[in-house]
Amino acid sequence: MKTYIVGNWKLNFTVGEASIYLHKLLKALPNYRDIDVVVAPSTIALQPLSLQVDRHKIKLAAQNAFYRDYGAFTGETAFSQLRGVADYSIIGHSERRYIFGEDDKMIAKKVAAAIRNRITPILCIGETESERAFGETADVIRDQLIGGLSEVADDNVDKVIVAYEPVWAISSSKVAKMATPDEIAEVVKLIRANLKEVYGEKTAKEIPVLFGGSVSPANAGAYLMVPGVNGLLIGGSSLILSEFVDIIETAKRTRS
Ligand code: 13P
Repeated sequence: MKTYIVGNWKLNFTVGEASIYLHKLLKALPNYRDIDVVVAPSTIALQPLSLQVDRHKIKLAAQNAFYRDYGAFTGETAFSQLRGVADYSIIGHSERRYIFGEDDKMIAKKVAAAIRNRITPILCIGETESERAFGETADVIRDQLIGGLSEVADDNVDKVIVAYEPVWAISSSKVAKMATPDEIAEVVKLIRANLKEVYGEKTAKEIPVLFGGSVSPANAGAYLMVPGVNGLLIGGSSLILSEFVDIIETAKRTRS
């Protein structure tokens, strides 16, 4: 299976800054066949960057989009409009869930809309600090995972990437504790067990599972070695070119 290194730029960089960053990143990277390097700029930068990017080296992801393909939905961008522009879309990020009130039902529609438009969904799931403290992690993971996939036909579930991002480990969260490899391994096991139970062993094995939350050059190697982890979803560190490149090179070393 490929390794995925995904940079989520969140609400950072002007279009010009994003273009300069991409230019430098393209120059810094060889073409790593077994690593998919993906960056997720703001929606406004996606189209210009799609003209600039060399897709053999780097692919683009949306950070969010709307599930209807057209209509009276002021302010939204549809997955149908991102066809040919973005290859991936992050969906259900905790910032979408907790700041913008997205629930599993809406997220499920977005996952289905992405697939319908040939965009690979990166479905983010993860428990908050208090959910973990109350022993609810397994339930939250199951609800967000199975809920998020509920609108996808069974034979399309293998088109999804799952990202485990414990909310308490995200650098912008109040606590921002670093997850240990053991904590991650336990939840990744749970994710695959749930997938196996609902969709069967083959699908459970085929779905890439990424980890995200305060990933940096210092911990990327250890996180990539966690059994069942197929890549990383990176916020803060992906904004610093040298750190992002360092993480990609670590991924390359870890694989070989
Ligand atoms: P940080 O890497 O800044 O913790 O962000 C993680 C994240 O939310 C990526 O989607």
